[in-house]
Formats: sequence, structure tokens, C-alpha cells
Amino acid sequence: MSLPIAKIRQAFPILRRLIDGHPLAYLDNAATTQKPDGVLDAMNAYYRTQNANAHRGMHPLAEEATDAYEGARGVVQKFLHACHSEEIIFTKSCTEAINLAAKSWGRTNLHPGDRVILTILEHHSNIIPWIQLKEERGIELQWVDIDDDGNLRFDRLERFLHEGNAKLVAITGQSNVLGMQPPLQEIIGRSHAAGARVLVDAAQLVAHHPIDVQKLDCDFLAFSGHKLYGPTGIGVLYGKREFLEHMPPMLGGGGMVQNVTEESFIPLDPPARFEAGTPPIAEAVGLAAAIDWLSQFSWEDIIHHEQQLLVHAGVVLSSIPNLTILGRFPLQPTPYNLPPRTGCLSFTLDNLHPHDLTEILGREGICLRAGHHCAEPLHRRLGFAASTRLSIALYNTPEEINRLPAAIERAREILTGKTADSARAHGRVANYKLQTTH
Ligand code: ALA
Repeated sequence: MSLPIAKIRQAFPILRRLIDGHPLAYLDNAATTQKPDGVLDAMNAYYRTQNANAHRGMHPLAEEATDAYEGARGVVQKFLHACHSEEIIFTKSCTEAINLAAKSWGRTNLHPGDRVILTILEHHSNIIPWIQLKEERGIELQWVDIDDDGNLRFDRLERFLHEGNAKLVAITGQSNVLGMQPPLQEIIGRSHAAGARVLVDAAQLVAHHPIDVQKLDCDFLAFSGHKLYGPTGIGVLYGKREFLEHMPPMLGGGGMVQNVTEESFIPLDPPARFEAGTPPIAEAVGLAAAIDWLSQFSWEDIIHHEQQLLVHAGVVLSSIPNLTILGRFPLQPTPYNLPPRTGCLSFTLDNLHPHDLTEILGREGICLRAGHHCAEPLHRRLGFAASTRLSIALYNTPEEINRLPAAIERAREILTGKTADSARAHGRVANYKLQTTH
């Protein structure tokens, strides 16, 4: 069955917005997705009728706020197919979730000389916490490379795993630049066989592919609400209970202790142990509403629609002169039999800086992201300082993508000095001259 796209779009009020008279073509969904009425209404209703602090009172509103917050935990547990609701820790973001794993599990379990294996595809959120741990604990980092088409070098991963002392593989479920989905199931199986634990950064994966943490058998998995049609200000760390039970809290404060003296404290069990301070209650309600909203559609339909859109985008962009898509495209079988690209693709155009290009496209209501997308090592590996990224959600249409060739040509004319707007734009280009690195 195909998705009722027109009806889906009606649920997102922002999609009716005009930018300088132009309809919005929001193609920056890897940065954040838009929010359906169901999410906005749920958060509004929570604040209008139930607002109180969770786990901190006996009055009716406090009970309702606690139920709403814990109910949301149950919704996330079901969504990820986790064994226990205690395995779902609410954080403020995916970044904080990965930091929690690094600063709590990592500090307790990693020792000088231990190795953490990362891939060159990683977002800074899944790089910097491990560099910090390297500086603090003397661990070593090993980097799995990609080939020239952008595919993960599985052979390198195998080699690192067999060199010994690999304690953790921290890997993205889907690249936020290339859309590459590493074969998680296989990687997790091989990592476990080599004695390494696995953390999955599912920030991008979560809105595009079903996740079953029991089937995957990952040890940790992190994602954020705002890339899943939910609000900002909430993220999730899933961790196997056997690990969480032995991890110390990262933050200290209210709501995470059994008792406190002038000298010491005894923390509560997970998940409360890791949720010091007033939690993001309305955001948890919004996240649960987002999951409920998304769950009305089948993953099969979502994947089918988004694959068609991304292939269409690849074909449309490939027709534009001097436009280079990073990694191999359109979708084809890969040498390592990896799944195709999902969610996004990134490109360069002439030597125009992506900041200039996207600023000009934005004037026509077309929203793309420009820069290194918080994946600087990957861009350096690909030989570019920056790129322009198109990223899709289930409400996008081929018609939105079809606006790109003409709009990009108009932008190119402005930026290369062929129109009246050029003089002003040209100064910006000179300032932002795209640097190529090797
Ligand atoms: N991590 C988000 C992105 O890639 C913000 O755009």
C-alpha cells in the first residue's frame, strides 16, 4: 500500500508556510524533522491540563505527570522492542545519551590500552566523547575506513576486531552525510564474538528503519526525539539492564538517590539513577505522541516511499552539470553487499560554497543543510571541506525535489556573476571559497 502523502502533509502545519511567497520544500530532515499536529496537541494538552513535576509529589497533577512520563517510557520500550522499561533512559539529546554511555560505562569499563573502534562515517557526537575518554583514560581509538564509493571497509573492522583488546564498537546506524546503513546485525554478531560491546548511534536510523534492540542484540543504542517527528530536548539511551545496573550516574541531583548524607549518597536503580533533576516530561509526552503517530504507518510503506524519493533525488541531481554526489549514486549493489543509501545524500556544485548555495535556495523556500554536517573526519576523507545535503522525511514529495534543478541553476548564475544579484553574492563566495582537502 502506498502512503497517503497529501493527508500526511496536512498533519504538519508548518508545511503550509510560504517563504517570500514560495511554498516550503523542507529537505533538511536529517537536521530535524517537522512535527505533526498529534505531537503539538499532546504537548499543549499536557501543559494545559496536567503539568506538574514527575516523581516528586502525591497530589493528582503530580501523579498524572508521573504517569505521563513513565507511560512515554513504555511507548519507547515497545517501539525499540526492549525487554524492560528500565532499559530506557531519557536524556536531553542523542548526544547526551552517547556521552552518558562514554562517561558512565566507558569510565568504569575501559582501561589504558583498551580499544574503541569507530568508523569514519561517525557524527561528532559519536567521536568526541571517545576522544575525551582517550585523553582521560588512555584508551586507543581505531578508525574503520570507507572505500572510494563511501562503503564501510568491513575487512578493516574484522582486522581490528581480531587484533585483540577491542572493548567497544561505537557505530552509526545510518550516516548523516552519505545515508549509508552499515550492516548492524552482522557487525554486532562479529563484535560480540570478538568480546567487544556495541553502541549504535541511531540518530538518523530511527526515523527511517525499524529498530529491534533484542534482535540486533546491541548493548547500547542512542537516538533523539526531534529527528523522529518529536520535540527537541529529549533523547534516549537504551542499555542492556545487565550493564546499566553496574554503571555509576553521570549527573548528581534530585530524583536519582535513595538517600543522601553529608558525606555520601546511594543512587536509585536505573533508569532514575541516570535522570538527575526535573526530567523532560512534556518532551517525553511529545516523543510518545510522535511514535504513536508514526506507528499508524507500516515500515514497509515508509521505506518504499523514502527509497523512491531518494532514488528520484539522485537521478534529478545527477542531471545537473558539475554537481557531484558524494559516494556512489544512484543506488546500486555494493561490493560488500551493504544495504542502499537511506534518508539523505550530499553533493558539491562547481567550487561554490554550500553556505552560499543553500542561502540562495532558501530564498525560494528550499531548505537544505550546508557545511560538514558535524562529520568533519568523513568530509576530510572524501576530500571536501563541506557539502550540501538533501535529506527526506515521509512527508516529502517528488514535486519538491523537482524544484531543485531550476533553482540550483538560478543560484549558480547569481553566484558565478551572470545576474544582477551577482555583485553582492560574489563577495560572499570569495569569503567562503570552498577548500578541497586530501
Ligand atoms: N546531526 C544533525 C545533522 O546531521 C544535526 O544535521
